Amino acid sequence: MLVVLMGPPGAGKGTQAEKITKEFALLHISTGDILRAAVKEKTPLGIKAKEYMDRGALVPDELIINIMKDRLAKPDCAGGALLDGFPRTVEQAEALENVLTDLNMELDAVINVDVSADELIDRLTGRRVCRSCGTTYHLKFNPPRVRSICDHCSGGLYQRSDDTVDTVKERLEVYGKQTLPLIEYYQRKNLYFAVDGSRPIDEVFEDISAYLQERKEE
Ligand code: AP5
Ligand code: MG
Ligand code: ZN
Repeated sequence: MLVVLMGPPGAGKGTQAEKITKEFALLHISTGDILRAAVKEKTPLGIKAKEYMDRGALVPDELIINIMKDRLAKPDCAGGALLDGFPRTVEQAEALENVLTDLNMELDAVINVDVSADELIDRLTGRRVCRSCGTTYHLKFNPPRVRSICDHCSGGLYQRSDDTVDTVKERLEVYGKQTLPLIEYYQRKNLYFAVDGSRPIDEVFEDISAYLQERKEE
């Protein structure tokens, strides 16, 4: 099964992806995570991407499309994957379609986690991430058992550099302009499923899980 998980910054894509990939045995491919790893290692891609990410802008389509072309061609994707945060523009969606045709693969579902802007600002500014294993927490909504320490691996938690109020506002604006048109694009293809992401994490997951189970049995 090949699934796209979309939604505004902070909607809970990463949080839901962790659960979905476990339940449906899918590979989790997050363009945000790939880019952050490149930034950390200071690769040529990372150096280029950092300047866009730091100001809340999208990294140019061409760079992202090339990354995903290579990633999807790897044999581990054949067992199914969840694409978290890609595509994010209509141009990326069209490129994805071409790549999948070449690879003889097909999209099964596009899930949009929908949350209002006010709530997103709270979610993002309160987010903390484990430095070692990447698990995501929230100071209020999903706190670790011990403050600043990961429940799973005892790693230290940090705040993403793009989770400041100003950058979050810019990311939300960019989402509205560049990513929102994708909803109509996928509605037209009958792949689109929206879930109300303002509810507790487990309730959101239940809806997504029921929907994917249906698609899987089709
Ligand atoms: P990316 O890393 O994808 O960031 P994003 O889209 O802004 O989304 P986030 O990761 O911030 O949020 P999320 O939806 O995963 O939420 P999470 O589960 O963490 O991209 C970063 C940057 O990389 C982009 O700005 C861009 O520059 C670049 N980039 C990436 N992909 C690109 C592409 N395809 N094209 C071009 N550029 C690209 O949850 C957020 C918080 O809320 C957490 O604290 C969590 O614990 C909490 N939470 C989650 N669910 C709930 C709930 N139901 N109730 C209460 N709290 C919740
Ligand atoms: Mg994420
Ligand atoms: Zn950890």
